[in-house]
Parts: sequence; structure tokens; C-alpha cells
Amino acid sequence: MRACGFRFSDPLKPMLKVINVAGARPNFMKVAPIVAAMKRRSDEFQSILVHTGQHYDAAMSDAFFRDLEMPEPDVDLGVGSASHAVQTAGVIQAFEPYVINEKPDWVVVVGDVNSTVACALVCAKLGVKVAHVEAGLRSRDRTMPEEINRILTDQIAELLLTPSPDANENLRAEGIPEERIRFVGNIMIDSLFAHVERSQHSRVLSELNLQPRGYALLTLHRPSNVDEKGAFARILDALEEISRRERIIFPAHPRTRRMIDELGLTERTENIRNLTLIDPLGYLDFLNLASNAKLVLTDSGGIQEETTVLGIPCITLRENTERPITVEMGTNTLAGTDTERIVALANRALDNPPDQSTLRVPPLWDGKTADRILDALSEPPAVAGGLTVV
Ligand code: UD1
Repeated sequence: MRACGFRFSDPLKPMLKVINVAGARPNFMKVAPIVAAMKRRSDEFQSILVHTGQHYDAAMSDAFFRDLEMPEPDVDLGVGSASHAVQTAGVIQAFEPYVINEKPDWVVVVGDVNSTVACALVCAKLGVKVAHVEAGLRSRDRTMPEEINRILTDQIAELLLTPSPDANENLRAEGIPEERIRFVGNIMIDSLFAHVERSQHSRVLSELNLQPRGYALLTLHRPSNVDEKGAFARILDALEEISRRERIIFPAHPRTRRMIDELGLTERTENIRNLTLIDPLGYLDFLNLASNAKLVLTDSGGIQEETTVLGIPCITLRENTERPITVEMGTNTLAGTDTERIVALANRALDNPPDQSTLRVPPLWDGKTADRILDALSEPPAVAGGLTVV
């Protein structure tokens, strides 16, 4: 496995022009440290930031740019919400002329959202090199739109930058040549380390009348959980039970909010006395709430990773995870959507807070991934000699 820990700077090397793509909320905390590192290393990199506009609300997008201290995007493709096909096609159509005009050396895409695969496809067809950050994660559940996006992006990207050793294994098993794969660590953790201290100045705890370790935090947005009444109702039954012993704070994604109404679950949700439904939070407020929670319940991918590093117990309301290392090494437990199982695991976690002295953090989740990504871009596969093999 290749690790990109060393820097080879060559004064004769030309400056690399890189388009960094950000589309949806979980992209922003992955792109921010890469853009910041390129600014620090502006003698080596010219960074262009493209926002596809997949997420566009103040709460889903603007708040993150502000909290993560990201520059304004150089261009916003303004694609917005639509069906998967229309949204993906919209990004493809808008991004292609931009890439043709800019002629970048690299396009960097992150994560697994529709914008990720759309931009990667444009570049593969144009012969522009794509680097995929967070490559190789697999849930093995092809009903998840993100799983399709991951598999396709990894097949067509030139450079696959992985967050954990299991991701390298997955790519190898799919026949991807070793020289295209680099283990660089978890980029989200760069943002977490950069902002966790500042997040403690947020007033969100007092605004919600909460004490540290005095509440559980919930997020829910996967179509398999919130678009299907049976699954959503089973989760609500579990929440009602858990809320008898712990207050639950629920910042709700716009699609979840809409589905509560559409599925006729508004009254049911309002009747859970100790469940507080609020609007989506910005990065700093959410990080504050997550780092001070007694328990986190979620169907998000990134939150499984953040709670692992923060040492907060996490119950994942899914049958599978593309991030198994958070279960093997971290504080994550898979609960699925069975009411009794969720309640039993929540009770166990609440009764047995983790011993902070025995917490483990996966390798290279160290806040230095952005620099390893930049190193990999300047030493692409064809000239990869000289990097450390671990
Ligand atoms: C997307 C990603 C998912 C990620 C999630 C995080 C894909 C396939 N899915 O799912 O991996 O975990 O973002 O949030 O790319 N909406 C707004 N305002 C916004 C954005 C969306 O109101 O700024 C509403 C719209 O009604 C839209 C719905 O949310 O139809 C879903 O948005 P969309 O981007 O299609 O997918 P997400 O569910 O957010």
C-alpha cells in the first residue's frame, strides 16, 4: 500500500491548475482543507473552486462555506434539485464547457454524491485527469444511489485516494491497478481537527437549553429510511422509547422534513415529547452538538467517522456501512431499522459510556490528509517512484 507522507518539491515543476468540485453538504468539509492547502502551497497549485449547486439553501450550503472559511466558489453551476437523472445530467451539461475552457491539469472530486460521478464522467470523456478523494468505500448495497456513484467514479478516475486500508482492498478486488491507488487518510478529519475547538464557542447548547452529555443527537435523511413509511415509523417507535430516558435533538434535512409531512407522520413526530425537531445546522453548531452528545443516532456516512474520532457512541440506523473501520476500531454500531434492536443498542450505549482512555483512531485520520492529497497530485501514477510503501 502506498502512503504519501513525504514531500518532493521540485523548483522546475510547472504549477498545477486544479478544479476542486463541491456539490452537496457532505462535500464541503472534504473540499475545504484541500482548497486551504492549495492556497498555502500556491507556488505549486492554482486552485479553482466549482460549486455544482446540488445543495443550494442557506442552511445546506452557505452556512458551510462561512463556517469552514472557504472562499466563494469561482463558479456556481446552479444545478439544484431534480430527479437523479436530471440532476446528474444537469451537472454533466454545465460542467463540460467549463472544463474545456479552463483546461485543468487535474479535477478533484470528493465523496459519493451525484455531482461527484457527473464531474468525473465529464473528465473521463475529455481525457482530463480526475482524482477521487474518499475512493474505495463500499457498502455492497446497490440500492443506495451513493454506492453506484462510488463504483462508477472509482472505475473512471485516474487517481484513487483512499481513507482506510479496507478501501484499498475493495479497489484491488475490483481489478484496479495498484499504481492508481494511494492511501492518504480521512480528509473530513482535517476539517474536524481544524474547527473542533472553535465549535465550542457556538451557543447552540444554551439556545436549546442543553447540558454537555445531557442529550442524544439524531440525523436521518437516507431515502431507504425516510421515503418508506414502514422504516420511518419503526425508527420513530424506537425514538419514542429512547426519549423516555434522554432528550433527542433532531436537526432535520429538508427531504426528511418534507417526507414527515407527505407520509402523514407530523402528528406522530410532534407527540414524542422529548424529541426536538430543528432546522439543519451549520458545521460549527453541529460539531458542537456532536462533540457534547451522550449518544448519536444517524444514517449519515460522515457522522460515523466524526463520532469515531470524537469518541462519542454512534448508532447507525442502516443495515450496512461503507465505513466498517468505524465499527471495528471506533464507537459505531450498526442497528438497522428494527425498533427493539435500536432501543437495546441505545440503552447499552447510554448505560456504558466509552472509556476515553481506550479509544482508537484509524491510521492517517490525523488532520494531515490534505497535504498527502496534494503530494499525490504532484506525483501522479506514471511517476510514482520514490514514495514510501507501507
Ligand atoms: C445528497 C446525497 C447524499 C448525501 C446528502 C447529504 C446524492 C445521491 N445524495 O442527498 O449522499 O448524504 O446529500 O445531505 O447525491 N433540498 C433542499 N435544499 C437543498 C438541497 C436539497 O431543500 O439545498 C431538498 C430538495 O427538496 C431535494 C431534496 O432535498 O429534492 C434532496 O436533495 P438531493 O441533493 O437530491 O439529495 P439528498 O437527499 O440531499
